Parts: sequence; C-alpha cells; structure tokens
Amino acid sequence: MLRIALIGATGAVGRECLALLDAGAVPLAEVVPVASARSAGTDLAAELDLSLPLAPLTPLEEWDRTGADVALLCAGAEISRREGERLAAAGALVVDNSSAFRMRPDVPLVVPQVNPGALAERPGSGLVANPNCSTIQLVRALQPLHKLAGLDDVVVATYQAASGGGLRGLAELGEASARMLSDVGAPAEPPGRFGQPLAFNLVPEIGLPDETGFAHEERKLACEPRKILGLPELRITATAVRVPVFHCHCEAVRIRVRRPVTAAQVEDALAATPGIRLYRRTDAVPYPMPRFAAARTEDRALVHVGRVRVEPDDPHGVWLWVVADNLWVGAASNAVEIVELAVKHGWLG
Ligand SMILES: NC(=O)c1ccc[n+]([C@@H]2O[C@H](COP(=O)([O-])OP(=O)(O)OC[C@H]3O[C@@H](n4cnc5c(N)ncnc54)[C@H](OP(=O)(O)O)[C@@H]3O)[C@@H](O)[C@H]2O)c1
Repeated sequence: MLRIALIGATGAVGRECLALLDAGAVPLAEVVPVASARSAGTDLAAELDLSLPLAPLTPLEEWDRTGADVALLCAGAEISRREGERLAAAGALVVDNSSAFRMRPDVPLVVPQVNPGALAERPGSGLVANPNCSTIQLVRALQPLHKLAGLDDVVVATYQAASGGGLRGLAELGEASARMLSDVGAPAEPPGRFGQPLAFNLVPEIGLPDETGFAHEERKLACEPRKILGLPELRITATAVRVPVFHCHCEAVRIRVRRPVTAAQVEDALAATPGIRLYRRTDAVPYPMPRFAAARTEDRALVHVGRVRVEPDDPHGVWLWVVADNLWVGAASNAVEIVELAVKHGWLG
C-alpha cells in the first residue's frame, strides 16, 4: 500500500492524477495533496467527489516531506528543481511532470507503452521524468511506424489546447471568448498565460525562442522523442502552435520512413497497437477531433490517429493526424502508469 505525495494537487494535471488514483490505479495507504498557500482550505475530496484515502491539503512550506513512497510533481519546473532531488534523497520515487530533469542521462524519460524497458531497474537518481505532453502522443504514434518501416525524418506541427497552460490558461480562454462573443469590438485582453490573446486567435510560439528562433516547446519536441525511442540520430523538427481549443492537443505529422509502405500497411500497424484508436476514411467518424477525443472517460487514455496518407509520388512519405488528451495521455495517466510499472517491479510499498 503506497503513500503518495502529490505536489500541485490543485492544478489541472494534479486534479486528473487524483481522479486516476481514485479510480484504483494503484493500492493506496494515503495520498497527501500539496499545493501553495493560496489553496489553503481547499477540500479536494468534496470538490472532486473522491473516495480515496486523502490527507488534508498541505501548503508546500508546511509539508514535512517525509514518509512518501512516491512523489508526483505537478507544480512546474521551478518547484521540481527545488524539491525533486530532496524528495528522492528522502526515499521517494519521484515522478516529475516538468521539463526539469527530462534530458539528464541518469533520469529515465518514460512512456510506458513505448519504452517500459527504461524502467527495468529503479533509477539510482530516484527520479523518473514524464515527457512533454506533445512528445508523448507523438512517440506513441511513431513507434508502430518505426517497427514497420524504420524512422528517418519527422516533421510535426502541433495545435495545442489551452489546458496545456494549466487552470489559468483554461480560465483565460473561457473568459476572453465570452467577452468577445458579447462584444466583438472589445479591446484585446492583455497578454496572459499564452503571451498573446488566444481567444479566436492562433499563437505560433509556445515558450521562449532561443537564438535559432525555435521555441522551448519545439526544442523539447526535437530532443525528447530521440531519447524515448532510443534513436539519437533521428531527424525531427517542429512548429508548435497554441489554438483556442480547451482540451486535447492535435498534431499533423509527416514521417519519412526507411522502407516503402502503403497506407493500408500503416493503418494496420496503428490499428494493431494497444492504446491507439485508428480512424479510417470510411468510418462513420473518419478522423479524430479535439472536441470529441476526450469526451468519454474510456477515450482519454488513448492516442487517436487518423488521416493516414502515403504520398502518391513517394512511398516513404507518411502523414498522420494525431489527437490526444494532453491532461491524461500527455501527463496524468502517463505518470500514474509509471507508478503502476514501479509497483509491478516491486520497488514500492
Ligand atoms: N497542462 C498540461 O497539459 C500539462 C501536460 C504535461 C505536463 N504538464 C506539467 O505539469 C505541471 C503542472 O501543470 P498544470 O497544467 O497542472 O498547471 P496548473 O494548473 O497551473 O497547476 C499548478 C499547480 O502547482 C501548484 N503550485 C504552483 N506554484 C506553487 C508553489 N510555489 N508552491 C506550491 N505549489 C505550487 C499550484 O498550486 P495552487 O493551486 O495553490 O496555486 C497548482 O496545484 C507543469 O510542470 C506542467 O509543465 C502540464
């Protein structure tokens, strides 16, 4: 039976972790929710209708940091950098949702459906990193193609939802959209969580650009898949765009594979992969869309793939449209599945 500390429990990802733990993902002695002092008095059990053994919410400054078998970090990279190693030194297996440790060689970067072998042994660092939300759905769709025909080159354009910016991002999009619908001529809202107004807009830069012009989100998408897929030479590049959609990230992906393929072969490989729902052109719903991909609980942990095309003049050129719930596939369910793997390996409890 595990004692799990959930840091960032009141946030968009933290709340989804609580829902998954409440659904019985792992055997629990206690979940200790931790957040900032701003959230003092929040009753998450009542708000989220939870029945798991939940301690009262503790502000991070007052939390004693002892006795946790697992620490799930969902409070941003700054808190992860400050707390991660300290919690690992205190004996917890730390599963971090931020970018703080992802590229460290002593920290496995894990998508359980893709590289469970990275968790064959408990990491000496005590840290396991959850990849970026856009990375997770991308590598889950790429892996069957890698097995089928080998990956040579990947170009991805993302269409990322407001919930990727946490609860504040969701609130900003909702409020600004309502304001504009009641007054189309209203002045634009000041830059907030997304750096630019998002309502009825597209923001083609997520995170700060470096001297090459590639933004932080795009750099993560270029590095993390190489580590997860064990393909350090893979050529991969991205444009990341924030779109005025509440939930689910979408990706248009162009893959150059090493051996020639047909669209039917690609579809069959995707359809045979657990955790992927394939949409064929002839299906009643012919492609996945963000409004519907996470509408039912059973869809939220799936990667939805459609619009499979092989270029008529190049049997190495494959296109996919990939949609997934960034809060589940891209964060909470991936993190909880990492804990499940650790339990299976007998490292915990
Ligand atoms: N949203 C996504 O789609 C997504 C996907 C993958 C990974 N992630 C990563 O997951 C993490 C959480 O993201 P989110 O979207 O859930 O953000 P969020 O909705 O803004 O939630 C942030 C959480 O962190 C807590 N927090 C912030 N500052 C704190 C402080 N100084 N001390 C203690 N707690 C503090 C907040 O507590 P209060 O409520 O008390 O402020 C809240 O519980 C981030 O690292 C993010 O990059 C997010």
